[in-house]
Amino acid sequence: MDIATPVSKVITELKSLLGDRLATSNSVREHHSHDTSRLAPHLPDAVAFPRTEEEVAAIVSACAAHGVPVVPFGAGSSMEGHTIPIRGGITLDTREMNRIVEIRPEDLLAVVQPGVTRKQLNVELRETGLMFSVDPGADASIGGMASTRGSGTTSVRYGTMRENVLALRVVTPDGTAIQTGSRARKSSTGYDLTHLFVGSEGTLGVITELTVRLHPIPEAVSVAFCPFPTVAQAVEAVIACVQYGIPVARVEFLDEVAIASVNNYSKLDMPVAPTLLFEFHGTSAWVEEQAKLAEDICTAHDAISYRWTADTDERNKLWQARHDLFWATKAIIPGYDLYTGDICVPISRLAESITAARADIDASSLKGQIIGHVGDGNFHTAYLIDPNNPVHLKEAEEMADRLVERALKVGGTASGEHGIGMAKLKFMRKEHGKAVDVMEKIKAALDPKGIMNPGKMGSEWSA
Ligand code: MLT
Ligand code: ZN
Repeated sequence: MDIATPVSKVITELKSLLGDRLATSNSVREHHSHDTSRLAPHLPDAVAFPRTEEEVAAIVSACAAHGVPVVPFGAGSSMEGHTIPIRGGITLDTREMNRIVEIRPEDLLAVVQPGVTRKQLNVELRETGLMFSVDPGADASIGGMASTRGSGTTSVRYGTMRENVLALRVVTPDGTAIQTGSRARKSSTGYDLTHLFVGSEGTLGVITELTVRLHPIPEAVSVAFCPFPTVAQAVEAVIACVQYGIPVARVEFLDEVAIASVNNYSKLDMPVAPTLLFEFHGTSAWVEEQAKLAEDICTAHDAISYRWTADTDERNKLWQARHDLFWATKAIIPGYDLYTGDICVPISRLAESITAARADIDASSLKGQIIGHVGDGNFHTAYLIDPNNPVHLKEAEEMADRLVERALKVGGTASGEHGIGMAKLKFMRKEHGKAVDVMEKIKAALDPKGIMNPGKMGSEWSA
């Protein structure tokens, strides 16, 4: 009697295609059972490591034939449970698709496989004087960043993945490989499929190649560091800088708790106060002028002090500390988890949004911090919770819900850059209304068997 299950049949088929690159060991499955979120892990049945688009198409076709889930996986740095294979099946890890296919300096673009990480691409670009600008902090894979429509510290100046992906190759859920977009900087032909797949979180297909924009590395860079007496003054200063038109390359907000954790983790001694970190790009004269213009604005908003420098070591140290913030926050209470939030609001509503978020944390029993890519109106909360304490989890959940409710009320969004994953599904209806029905129809049309990253966007949301 044949007792093979659909997934065991797929595993047998893929073993003969991929050999050792189809893993079923517990350690590999465990590694692919979670992301960086606090959400409960779930094991995939097997993990495939394709090297080519043909192999991706064969994996997806085998899964489609047997109705087995496929979950695309990049670097595993997502923050809302995107890559957790909650229905099991095959996790398709793109790490071996890590080839930079082509760099075209004259067109300011690069063509990469999805497993190339942003740092890997930037190392490769050094000689060209160009850079890939999107910087979410983690050394994420570019395929993963596109799938999440990620952004980070530099999007205020250079845009998010939406602005930086020109074209894609995608294997659709029936195993067909398609090209979306072109190398032209603009086009008015057809539905914009590139941007349908950007942000679709692996629910509509597997990205197998990306054409991304590059930007010239600035001739000079300066950074400024500016503590304020209150959160509101810091945020009002950012709004003034943006409205004045200073083309800041980065402007990051860290509240007092975040500054204290950075000081502790990265051995710095910044004054413990709500703080802005600026970065300016341009010629030497222009970065100096921008730094001084920002100084005037910050001083007019009662900044405690304002220090700027073009020193590379100092700059690298500051940004390394900012990028280590996730780990610095985790280190505040060893053994605790971070319950993270990520909303974006119109910049005119940013000061009141951050102030309300801070007041909510202060009124709770939890310790928490706020940081933000404030030039975009985007900020993150992180509540520290004991993973074994259900009271903490409930309090954090309620506070995170209130954070999103307030953002939606002022015309904002439930996620600025971390995406929907599993944690934010419940807000989709509230944010998008009947547009969610259109999203469902798109999902059903492209993935009628519901094999692509099931249990996530497209088919599962609560009203
Ligand atoms: C960041 O801004 O550092 C990332 O989005 C991750 C985080 O929220 O901690
Ligand atoms: Zn962020």
